[in-house]
Amino acid sequence: MVMKKRLRIGIVGCGAIGSRLAKTLPKDLKNDYMLSGLFDILPQKAFALSKYFSNKKIIKSSLKDLIQSCDIVVEAINTNHAREIVQESLKAKKHVLTVSVGQLLNAQNLFKLAKKQGCKILIPSGAIAGIDAIKAGQLVPFQKITQITRKPITGFKNDPYLAKKGINLSKIKKETVIFQGSVDQAVKAFPRNINVSATLSLACQHKNKVLVKIITSPKYKENSHEIEMIGAFGRINTKTVNVICPDNPKTSYLAVLSVIQTLKQFSSGVFVGT
Ligand SMILES: NC(=O)c1ccc[n+]([C@@H]2O[C@H](COP(=O)([O-])OP(=O)(O)OC[C@H]3O[C@@H](n4cnc5c(N)ncnc54)[C@H](O)[C@@H]3O)[C@@H](O)[C@H]2O)c1
Repeated sequence: MVMKKRLRIGIVGCGAIGSRLAKTLPKDLKNDYMLSGLFDILPQKAFALSKYFSNKKIIKSSLKDLIQSCDIVVEAINTNHAREIVQESLKAKKHVLTVSVGQLLNAQNLFKLAKKQGCKILIPSGAIAGIDAIKAGQLVPFQKITQITRKPITGFKNDPYLAKKGINLSKIKKETVIFQGSVDQAVKAFPRNINVSATLSLACQHKNKVLVKIITSPKYKENSHEIEMIGAFGRINTKTVNVICPDNPKTSYLAVLSVIQTLKQFSSGVFVGT
């Protein structure tokens, strides 16, 4: 019997998403993938995660070493180096899954590079539903996509945009709209908190038709995203109400699951709804 070759995964960023994925690999993804590398800008994070694995050689001391160790790079960082990680991975002819979607807006050069190198850039649907239908709907004329995101106050703790705007979270006692605007403005204001807007933009290919509204309240316990798209095909309405990832209140558990599911689809070669 010919054994199927498992793809080697290297994870950049050992936080909530990176850690959950790493721990899932030896269980749910073990037939198709193996963990070959962990890299974090804070070495102690990679070290702490490596305690779950017997092979300590998976800890890598540089992005370059990480990329060399694997077939697919998973970018799960919380700083603005995602473009660099995607670019270096593609240059080394590695596929790359990226969660920092906000940083892939206006990144045509990276999409061209992926094609040239024969590599895939995988973008999980994240914390929202309906990306499949939006991709189909945008093939005909449509008016707009509206995204209404609701997040608990803890999801905006120490947020620089709110500080700049003089919005004091402790003074918010009821449902309050803290942002309304375009995708570019949303991604600039909340770079690590609003990747879904960027995912919607890439899916519909008309960034300027996406309107974003962000609401918070002391009563909210979950992250939710309502999406509406109206066009020649009819109307799409979706809503996800997401459990917060225990390791990071800014991240929805569904986003972690969508990373795992994207990898499952990639290895199976069967793309349902994409
Ligand atoms: N696509 C989506 O729908 C979606 C949903 C949720 C979160 N996200 C994105 O995923 C990112 C990761 O989420 P998380 O909850 O795992 O974050 P996290 O804060 O728990 O972990 C991020 C990790 O990345 C590390 N890191 C930062 N810069 C690095 C670099 N240059 N190289 C290597 N490591 C680096 C940090 O030290 C940290 O350990 C978020 O910042 C957010 O942008 C996307």
